[in-house]
Amino acid sequence: MEMERMRALFSVEEELDHGGQAIVYKVVRKCDGQPFACKSIRVTEYKEDELEDLNPDDFPDGGLLEEAEMEIRALSKGKGESGVVQLVDVFRDDDYYHIIMELCECSLKDLLQDRTRLSEHEAAMVIESVARTVSRMHDLGVVHRDIKVGNILLGFGESLFDNIKLADFGTSWVSKGTDMRMRGQVGTDRYVAPEVVASIHEYDERVDVWGVGIVLYEILSGKLAFEGVRSRDVPRRLSHWEDLAVSSLDWTDVSDGARDLILQLLHLDPRRRLPIHEVENHPWVVKHSGSQVPDNRSLEEEQHSKRMVFEQPHHGLKRRRGEEEEEEEDFIAKKLQHLGVDRAWQVVH
Ligand SMILES: Nc1ncnc2c1ncn2[C@@H]1O[C@H](COP(=O)(O)OP(=O)(O)OP(=O)(O)O)[C@@H](O)[C@H]1O
Ligand SMILES: [Mg+2]
Repeated sequence: MEMERMRALFSVEEELDHGGQAIVYKVVRKCDGQPFACKSIRVTEYKEDELEDLNPDDFPDGGLLEEAEMEIRALSKGKGESGVVQLVDVFRDDDYYHIIMELCECSLKDLLQDRTRLSEHEAAMVIESVARTVSRMHDLGVVHRDIKVGNILLGFGESLFDNIKLADFGTSWVSKGTDMRMRGQVGTDRYVAPEVVASIHEYDERVDVWGVGIVLYEILSGKLAFEGVRSRDVPRRLSHWEDLAVSSLDWTDVSDGARDLILQLLHLDPRRRLPIHEVENHPWVVKHSGSQVPDNRSLEEEQHSKRMVFEQPHHGLKRRRGEEEEEEEDFIAKKLQHLGVDRAWQVVH
């Protein structure tokens, strides 16, 4: 019934992207033709026959349901935050959660594949927005833990940079009170803070500051920071904590102001990292994030990147339909309510 309800409300247009457990589709709301994104997250393990053409190593078992529900919970906390991709609705069938959210044009990763690096103005707009959003989410008790270019989306508008959205809260952590200490080796290698992967100890929200620093370096230089060094090896490979980034990164394409900010974000010792709420006041951000129009070259490349994203093939919605019962529907409705999903908009339309 859940799926019938979803199919009654939305039609699937095309696949936009897929990751380990999730496929992201463009869907269209039938009542008004408005496009949205649907992230379908597999929450059950694959059966033998389904794995025929797939690599079993891409599908780690366990914890899938928890990850999907954590994402829903975190997105619910971010409702109304302009820098968080907005949650619209959630549906559940036998094997998947289907998370309907606002549709963006592409990710920063897509853009970098096309363009290699951003101008200082664009990079400052991205970092100002992401840092402000991360700070707001920390205040709401949500730590993202997987900040990287593939999880920063660019929205609709005159310029790709009008709407910069943080997405993919699948490995985020939502606090139960004011305590922001957590454990767990999650995130993406080479983006994740060394203390997350290298330690059995607790860490805190300052892991996101590291992620912002890695993103800033990458979007300005076109290269990944500490290329070839796994996050867990970063401390061992760098002898002096103070000199971490100075000696280990290639600063050729990075201006002095940006370099200063990167150095303040990429301290091995989390206590020495610039507090995330101070990033928007850093002189380089203030100087470069103003509302100037990006140069023509950037605009042309933006158009190209937009086309690139929507030129992907349509594979249709691949999922099995189970036999849902009414009790199940009730259960799901209660569960979604518990996760913070508000279906009020459905009543409106
Ligand atoms: N709301 C959206 N609008 C447009 N594209 C989106 C949206 N959400 C996700 N995508 C696209 O799908 C990709 C994967 O989404 P997401 O990062 O949420 O999934 P994931 O499977 O958890 O990813 P990974 O494990 O690779 O980090 C994004 O990088 C982006 O290209
Ligand atoms: Mg992702």
